[in-house]
Amino acid sequence: MTFDFEFVRAQFPAFETDDGRQMAFFENAGGSYACGAVIDRLHRFYRERKMQPYWPARPSKLGGEEMDEARQRLSSWMGIEQEELSFGPSTTQNTYVLSQAFRQMLRPGEAIIVTNQDHEANSGPWRRLAEAGIDVREWGIDKETGRLDPQGLINLLDDKVRLVCFPHCSNIIADINPVADIVAIAKEAGAYTCVDGVSYAPHGIPHMDELGADIYLFSTYKTYGPHQGIMVIRRELGEKLPNQGHHFNAGALYKRFTPAGPDHAQVAACAGIVDYFEALYDRHFKDSTVPLFDKGKAVHKLLRSREEALMQPLLDYIKDKNSLRLLGPGVAEERAPTLSVTTQIPPQDISERLAARQIAVGGDNFYGQRPIEAMGLDAQVGVLRMSFVHYTSENDIARLIQALDDIL
Ligand SMILES: Cc1ncc(COP(=O)(O)O)c(C=O)c1O
Repeated sequence: MTFDFEFVRAQFPAFETDDGRQMAFFENAGGSYACGAVIDRLHRFYRERKMQPYWPARPSKLGGEEMDEARQRLSSWMGIEQEELSFGPSTTQNTYVLSQAFRQMLRPGEAIIVTNQDHEANSGPWRRLAEAGIDVREWGIDKETGRLDPQGLINLLDDKVRLVCFPHCSNIIADINPVADIVAIAKEAGAYTCVDGVSYAPHGIPHMDELGADIYLFSTYKTYGPHQGIMVIRRELGEKLPNQGHHFNAGALYKRFTPAGPDHAQVAACAGIVDYFEALYDRHFKDSTVPLFDKGKAVHKLLRSREEALMQPLLDYIKDKNSLRLLGPGVAEERAPTLSVTTQIPPQDISERLAARQIAVGGDNFYGQRPIEAMGLDAQVGVLRMSFVHYTSENDIARLIQALDDIL
C-alpha cells in the first residue's frame, strides 16, 4: 500500500505557514504539530461553546457533548471502557496524582519498582514514595545498549512489590520495550503496572488489551492534539485506589484522578485526534465498517511501517559516522524514530547551526537525565535528538543528513 504523503501533509495547517513550509522539523518528541481536525474543534469550542458545559442552554449542552465525544472516541480507538480514560493537564501532573493515590494505598515495607530508562515524569514522583516508607527498587538499564532486560525485573520481584513503573519506550533511548511480556511478568508476581506511553503513542496509539497494563499514560500535544495528558486506568485498579478528586465525584471512575477542573475546550478538541486517524484509515483501507479499535490497529501498523522506512537512511548514516554514537538499537523495527546521538561538538552548537538552515533539532537531556547518566554520559551536555513522525518527508531526512555532514 502506498502511504499518501500529500494527504497527510494537507491535514496539518502548520505546513501551510512560511516556517512550516521551509522547516525540516525534527523535534517531534518534544511536541508534534496539531492536526486541522483538532484546531477546528478547539476554535469552534472557543467561538461557539464557551460556557460552563453540561447545562441545558444549547452552547453549554453541545460543549458537554463534545467533551464526552472525545472520551468516547479515544476509548473506542484504544479498546477500553469510556470511564477508564481520563484527562489531566499533563503526564507529569497525572503521575504526580497517581503517586499520591498509591502513597495512600501502600503500606510501609511494601515495594514499587521504577527504572532509570524513564523520563523523570514516570520516575521522580514514584521515587518520592520512599519518604512514606515504601521500598523503591530500581530496574536498571544495560550501560552499553540502554536496554531493560526483563531478567533484571524478575530478579527484583517478590511478594512485597505492588507496582512496576516503566516506559513503553524512552524519549532518549527509544528502544521499544516488550510491554505485554513485562506486564505478564509483573502480574504473575501480583504487581500492577504503570506504563509511560508518551514517547510511543505518536507512532501509533496502542490497543490496551494487547498490552495488558493497568495504567497507560500519554500526552496529546505529542499525538497531534492539544496540551493534555491522557490516563488510561483500568477499572479494577481505578476503583481500588483512593479517590483523589472531590468526594462527591468518587463514583465516576474518570473523575477520581483529576483533582483539577478539566480544560473543557482542550478535552473536546482531543476528539479531533481520532478524526484525523480515522481519516487516515479511510484514505488507506477499504473496509470502513470495522470497529474503531480495528481501525486503530491498522493505522498503528501504517504509521510504524512508514516511520521504519524513513528511519533507515538516517540510521545508516549515523552508523557510518565515527563522530556520532547512536543510543539504543540500530534496527528500525526495534525503536521509535527518536534518534539520540552523542557528538564531539556540543549538541547545542549543532542544534543552532541546524536551525540556521531551517532544520529544527534539539540538543539537551530532555528530562532524561537518568538514562543518559546510566549510559555513562554527562546529562549536562546531553545528546543531539532527531525525532520525527509519519508526516516527515524523505526530503527532510536527506536535508538533515546533508546538513549534519557539512557541520561535522
Ligand atoms: C517519555 C515522556 N514521558 C513523560 C513526559 C512528560 O509529559 P508532560 O509534558 O505531558 O508532562 C515526556 C515529555 O517530554 C516524555 O517524553
